[in-house]
Amino acid sequence: MELKLSIDEELCTACKLCSQVCIRDNIVVGGFAVEVGSNCFECGHCMAVCKVGAISLKSYEAHEDRIVDYDSREIPVGYDDLLQFLKQRRSIRWFKNKKIDKETFAKLFEGAYYSPSAQNSQDVEFVVLDEKLDEFMELVYDIIKVQEDEFFRIREFGDYLNDNSIKEFHPLLWQGKQLILTFSTDKTSAVIANTRLELLAYSLGLGGFYSLFILKADEIDHERLMEFFPGIDVKKHMYSSFVIGYPKVKFRRTIPHRDIKVNYI
Ligand SMILES: Cc1cc2nc3c(=O)[nH]c(=O)nc-3n(C[C@H](O)[C@H](O)[C@H](O)COP(=O)(O)O)c2cc1C
Repeated sequence: MELKLSIDEELCTACKLCSQVCIRDNIVVGGFAVEVGSNCFECGHCMAVCKVGAISLKSYEAHEDRIVDYDSREIPVGYDDLLQFLKQRRSIRWFKNKKIDKETFAKLFEGAYYSPSAQNSQDVEFVVLDEKLDEFMELVYDIIKVQEDEFFRIREFGDYLNDNSIKEFHPLLWQGKQLILTFSTDKTSAVIANTRLELLAYSLGLGGFYSLFILKADEIDHERLMEFFPGIDVKKHMYSSFVIGYPKVKFRRTIPHRDIKVNYI
């Protein structure tokens, strides 16, 4: 059996917290904690709960500088602040003529790094489209044009590709010049990861909007779309498409919403 954990028997106090949080029944504690199962999916909860730091994950040994201690009673953002932050988020379609640099993108992807994923698969993968954006959008049109009778926006996009003087702004990207695509085998994991980077973007004064029409390319012809991304496993789907940039328009108030429907049953 390949052991995934490194357990320091000297440090271990046999408190059993690690075996209690393990959802794969992989740890048994006698005189000290012992990895007994072969089902570990490296969620890291055993190491995160250990009071004395006796456990580490072997395959992440090179990433130990990423591990930080925290006190879970200290919640760094209060409800009111977080809710106000969510209220202030607006979809942004009008951008300054300034590109986001790689260091700033890296800050956003930190949100995805700390994102949960189905069975801890961590298979969410991103593409930042910048120089190849126009080329990509041509492919998107070629795939989604089968729905142009249904969606005026797609028809308008086709007309714009033929003659971009007909409309001041791009029918799908508006003033957007950079696009983040999110791929994964699991839709929920992809959307969660993207939402986190989106919120971090707003915290840095950036903004953007999700694009429904770009996503249609994956729904209509996934195989063809993936030819554009030969480095990405074709089993992964494009589940999020977020146009991003530096906001130009300043919004001053929230927008009305219909009451949220919640069913307690
Ligand atoms: C899944 C999804 C797809 C969206 N698709 C588009 C789109 O294709 N084009 C666009 O301009 N806005 C798009 N939006 C933005 C919505 O129109 C926007 O969220 C809504 O009008 C409310 O405005 P707010 O985001 O500022 O609260 C999309 C939003 C979501 C969540």
